[in-house]
Amino acid sequence: MRDFDETNITAAVIEQFGAATDPRLKRIMTSLVQHLHDFVRDVEPTFEEWSFAIDYLTRTGQTCTDKRQEFILLSDTLGLSMLVDAVNHRMPEGATETTVLGPFYVDGPPDLPLGADISGGMAGEPLLVEGMVSSSDGTPLAGAVVDIWQADDDGYYDVQRPELDGALLRARFRTDGVGRFRFRSIMPAYYPIPHDGPVGQMLAATKRHPNRPAHVHFMIAAPDHETLITHIFAADSPYLDSDAVFGVKNSLIVEFVRRPAGDAAEHDHRHLTYEFGLKRLDGR
Ligand code: BEZ
Ligand code: FE
Repeated sequence: MRDFDETNITAAVIEQFGAATDPRLKRIMTSLVQHLHDFVRDVEPTFEEWSFAIDYLTRTGQTCTDKRQEFILLSDTLGLSMLVDAVNHRMPEGATETTVLGPFYVDGPPDLPLGADISGGMAGEPLLVEGMVSSSDGTPLAGAVVDIWQADDDGYYDVQRPELDGALLRARFRTDGVGRFRFRSIMPAYYPIPHDGPVGQMLAATKRHPNRPAHVHFMIAAPDHETLITHIFAADSPYLDSDAVFGVKNSLIVEFVRRPAGDAAEHDHRHLTYEFGLKRLDGR
């Protein structure tokens, strides 16, 4: 094999995967080379641009630590994470739509009793959350594990505040005998994704903002069901139509209703209610 040019090099590289025995790997590598080569033929990068791209990806990798994953953030901001999510979650009727996990989930959050206040007394507008978890066929799921996490009134997660000692605004609940859960919190604020690294440079260079609309994250697991990873977005938040990571879906936008003090809470508060549906593993 020799004398490669822009018309024959793609087929030559793909032919080299001919001996691969894993059919899925072969398909992925073939398609990757095809699309990468087509991309180069399309934009015809200069050597300076190619070199910048290599340096950019190198810096993206070098920005990763055990607490920061810049490559996932890059995937998020290019809409790749939501595209992978979309092709993997074609949901049946009755199942809640999914969205990105994000970098602020911490495995093994504090196990709290139903009704607990997860704000630790932080300043913010009081919020009461009441949810219901069912199978997509409508059967309530008792004992489902509900992990929740959210930003505070200033738009920060606890893990972004090194002065905090321990978990705040994150918890694990278990649904009661009829599939319900309930907790108290404060209203999350909209916030910028981490934008002090290569991803932030890409956003600034392309005149994009780094913000996400206000939301509460949910990860809900129950036997015989696909674990649901989603958020609920506040209907009155800015940035619903320009989420930096393309995670907003209409079915996940909910009014956090203003309620006066009363039996449910001793102060004026917001009230979020939502019925979550989990997809059965048997596809029904
Ligand atoms: C989040 O909602 O926590 C998030 C998701 C994707 C990127 C950054 C943050
Ligand atoms: Fe978030």
